[in-house]
Amino acid sequence: IAPQIPTVPPPVAGTAPAAATQRMRIAPHIMWPQLPLRAPLPLWRSKYGPLVVVNVANADLIEQVLRQEGRHPIRTDMPHWRGYRKLRNHAYGPLTEMGAEWQRIRSILNPRMLKPKHVSSYTSAINGVVSDFIEKVAKLRTTKGNDLMVYDVAGELYKFAFEGICSVLFETRMGCLNEVVPEETQKFIFSVGEMFRLSPIVIPFPKSLWTYMPFWKHFVAVWDHLFKVADELVQKKMAEIQERVKYGQPVEGEYLTHLLISEQMSFTEVLGSITELLLAGVDTTSNTVSWALYHLAREQEIQQKLYEEIISVCPGDKVPCSEDITRMPLLKAIVRETLRLYPVVPGNARVVAEREIVVGGHLFPKNTLFHLCHFAVSYDEKVFPNPSAFLPQRWIRGEKQLNQHPFGSVPFGFGIRACLGRRVAELEMYLLLSRLIKHYEVRPDPSGNTVKPITRTLLVPATSIDLQFIDRQKEQEEPVKANASV
Ligand code: HEM
Repeated sequence: IAPQIPTVPPPVAGTAPAAATQRMRIAPHIMWPQLPLRAPLPLWRSKYGPLVVVNVANADLIEQVLRQEGRHPIRTDMPHWRGYRKLRNHAYGPLTEMGAEWQRIRSILNPRMLKPKHVSSYTSAINGVVSDFIEKVAKLRTTKGNDLMVYDVAGELYKFAFEGICSVLFETRMGCLNEVVPEETQKFIFSVGEMFRLSPIVIPFPKSLWTYMPFWKHFVAVWDHLFKVADELVQKKMAEIQERVKYGQPVEGEYLTHLLISEQMSFTEVLGSITELLLAGVDTTSNTVSWALYHLAREQEIQQKLYEEIISVCPGDKVPCSEDITRMPLLKAIVRETLRLYPVVPGNARVVAEREIVVGGHLFPKNTLFHLCHFAVSYDEKVFPNPSAFLPQRWIRGEKQLNQHPFGSVPFGFGIRACLGRRVAELEMYLLLSRLIKHYEVRPDPSGNTVKPITRTLLVPATSIDLQFIDRQKEQEEPVKANASV
């Protein structure tokens, strides 16, 4: 989401911010060019070609930046993404738009993405996709996994997430969980990956050189494909609506139908926004659920507690719905802790265009680009004791609850520019994880491989996450059968 901004590795325990924070305090309003170029954490400058970035790797200082972000916060000016849209006369969407126009788009897109009553109405569409995923896991195990293993869990979850977000946006099933994934969809998935891979390659070059660069052509081609897929889906929905109107039938539907019939946006604007929602709504949820399963497999005690929580709220065949989730605090804490350890947007950014601001005692001019190093702060032991451990209980209210820093972990961002898909993403992740753990016991890869994260614009698993999925029902039946035969 902030492609050109690099992130820093987690600080080695004990080396991080205290001393540096004190240094900042004794230097009120020092002009920012005096900042060091290399990190004595937590505030330093970096240069990437023409780009100058101020890195912020401390929860207090991140708070200072975000609280001064102004009325129309900007993440970065994203010249490469915006350049493509200009080239093809496409509209900007919520990720790329700026200023008052961005605010107008958000005010149209927000209600049905963020208001709880609308979000919970997506439950049955998402649960349909979850049911298919549970079956898919069973099939993958039998066909490729010796009745036990599912390989490349993140890749499989990517297809789930694409299917899930399409079911919400278009009220359409795409067939991503079928045995053979449609070619168009496969190409869409490939194009998203290529676009993220090429973004940091394009950005350090001046705009005037882009057309001469061999990768620019490829960058444009992958964007063309993303817009083509979205265009076909939006056109299809338009045709369906027109057909219903023609025959005097009521027009009802979910997200896209609402956008189209409300006529608050032109077709081009709807297309610009829908493409960006698709783009933002797939890798994010799929990677987070992959990491959550990876840790649950390794921490059997936590998994068992989660299973007990789920069956106490949803006994027997009851399928969890959005109301049930409100009674699953451990499930929520597990997702929260997963996002602390693996913030899928590891480094966010802010540009304050409206005025100069003071951060850590330094005065920064308008339009300074701040890189917010969320990944580093997630591992700051002053903010999160024992930072490398997977401890969901940190997030559970109770006697021992620590006084969490509100900017220690902000995986969905902050303020009016925060994630548009947060509520839908959370619902998807909760419905999927609760059903998966109700159905399967997840165990680690017997080969004992550990998986580390790596930044590819987003934070993703560096190697394949492979897990064992064991049917809980079978497991419970088998000892009974065994006893009966004795
Ligand atoms: C685990 C899941 C997700 C995480 C952790 C996540 C995280 C984020 C973050 C950190 C931002 C930047 C916010 C800021 O600058 O303050 C963001 C922006 C955004 N996200 Fe998400 N996201 C997730 C899922 C989704 C989904 C499912 C969708 C779409 C349905 C989505 C759509 C967007 C959009 C459109 C923006 C840009 C908002 C704007 O600039 O106005 N995200 N997300």
